[in-house]
Amino acid sequence: MIFEQVVSGGCQSYLVGCEATLAAALIDPELSKVDRYRGLLGQHGLTLKYIVDTHTHADHFSASQQLGKAFGVPVAMHRLAPAPYADMRLDDGDMLIVGDLRIKALHTPGHTRDSMSLVMDDRVFTGDAMLIGGTGRTDLPSGDPHQLYESLFDKILKLPADTLVFPAHDYKGRSHSTIGAEIADNPACKRPTAVSSWR
Ligand SMILES: [Fe+2]
Repeated sequence: MIFEQVVSGGCQSYLVGCEATLAAALIDPELSKVDRYRGLLGQHGLTLKYIVDTHTHADHFSASQQLGKAFGVPVAMHRLAPAPYADMRLDDGDMLIVGDLRIKALHTPGHTRDSMSLVMDDRVFTGDAMLIGGTGRTDLPSGDPHQLYESLFDKILKLPADTLVFPAHDYKGRSHSTIGAEIADNPACKRPTAVSSWR
């Protein structure tokens, strides 16, 4: 697997590519990093097949629409996403095929109602549903703390403990975590204190 994490302030986006076929997908691309994505695609000789936004971002400018047009590839979002430019609308359990890679959408609402986590191989891209040591906010439009609780405990935390966790944000320069580490250390992942710990 070809894997690049692109950091822009507290935002994290991802380029994933299949080594055998050189097919690629971009996850949560950010407008200020368009040149970087182009450079990485060229450097690895990748052909972009999909762009995926894990959710409607309130806190950064998504490059999905621009890159989708420029590369002529579909932008995939959850079916509840209000964005008119989303060409593919995914439902819980839907799979994107990127060469030999399989990206499975889990509907994990709560930060927004269109939030997805993307499971691929040994890792999950949690968007803002689960961050390292916390969760995304639930007070923005379409946020719902009860939905987030269910998304965490019924879906994300049921993934194997050694699953790598790559969120859409980290403000302390950390690149990733694991499900096991979040169960151990993330206050939002402890049932008795979860509600009072959410940020
Ligand atoms: Fe967000």
